[in-house]
Amino acid sequence: MSITITTQQVSMRYKERVLFHIHELTIGPNDAIYLKGDNGVGKTTLLKILSGLTKPSSGKIATTNTTWRHALFPKAKFKDVIYLHQTPYLFDGTVYQNVGYGIRYSKESPKDKRAQIINALRMVGLETLSDEHISVLSGGERQRVAMARAWILKPSILLMDEPSASLDKESIERLVIMAEDLLQRGASLVITSHQANALTDLCKKQWWIKDNTLTESPLLQVVSEPSSMLGSANSERSSINASTTFRAV
Ligand SMILES: Nc1ncnc2c1ncn2[C@@H]1O[C@H](COP(=O)(O)OP(=O)(O)O)[C@@H](O)[C@H]1O
Ligand SMILES: [Mg+2]
Repeated sequence: MSITITTQQVSMRYKERVLFHIHELTIGPNDAIYLKGDNGVGKTTLLKILSGLTKPSSGKIATTNTTWRHALFPKAKFKDVIYLHQTPYLFDGTVYQNVGYGIRYSKESPKDKRAQIINALRMVGLETLSDEHISVLSGGERQRVAMARAWILKPSILLMDEPSASLDKESIERLVIMAEDLLQRGASLVITSHQANALTDLCKKQWWIKDNTLTESPLLQVVSEPSSMLGSANSERSSINASTTFRAV
């Protein structure tokens, strides 16, 4: 894993109201973090700050990238920090078009792109819905499309905002498969969720926003339910060769 985000003295205020002040924070390399806190404490706001979508009221955010590309082009924007919206915006088109959206202009051959899209669709169990228009999908299926669309970009850091809210068990397990794959590639994940589930079971650290600040603690691995669909998360991890921008999907 080549990218870390560090923050120093980040504060968020709306008018007179201080949402949070966080002394210091680091994501990466290869982190899996469960971000928790009551409604309205600022979880979404923090993820948006970390993904560059929202500017904090004060404080510093730095990304470090040690890939050769960044060494060669130090001024190039960082790439591959992706914010996954709680209610993802999907484009007017088919499932296939949505999943392939982020790689439509990439330099790979059409055959390679097609193989990647089909692979992503298989991982989220939507290959039979490939040609369906996005409007016919259920909420869980839409979330799976959004996850596949993020996964195909091979983010180094994926910030997942309530990805499992109101999802059925199968959809959560499909997201887990993709999340595990990203972790095995050396990526980092931050996952917000109201309650512990198979996705948050992947996390090794906890961030808890409470009393206008954030505390970090290690997370004991408590596997909520065994799943036959999950691959091993313990195989050898490789690093992503990426330099980086911020995106939201
Ligand atoms: N643009 C804004 N202007 C004023 N208040 C905001 C704005 N965006 C978010 N807030 C407030 O900040 C608080 C934290 O919101 P949010 O980050 O969505 O919390 P969480 O994701 O933990 O539920 C909420 O009370 C919300 O109303
Ligand atoms: Mg939120």
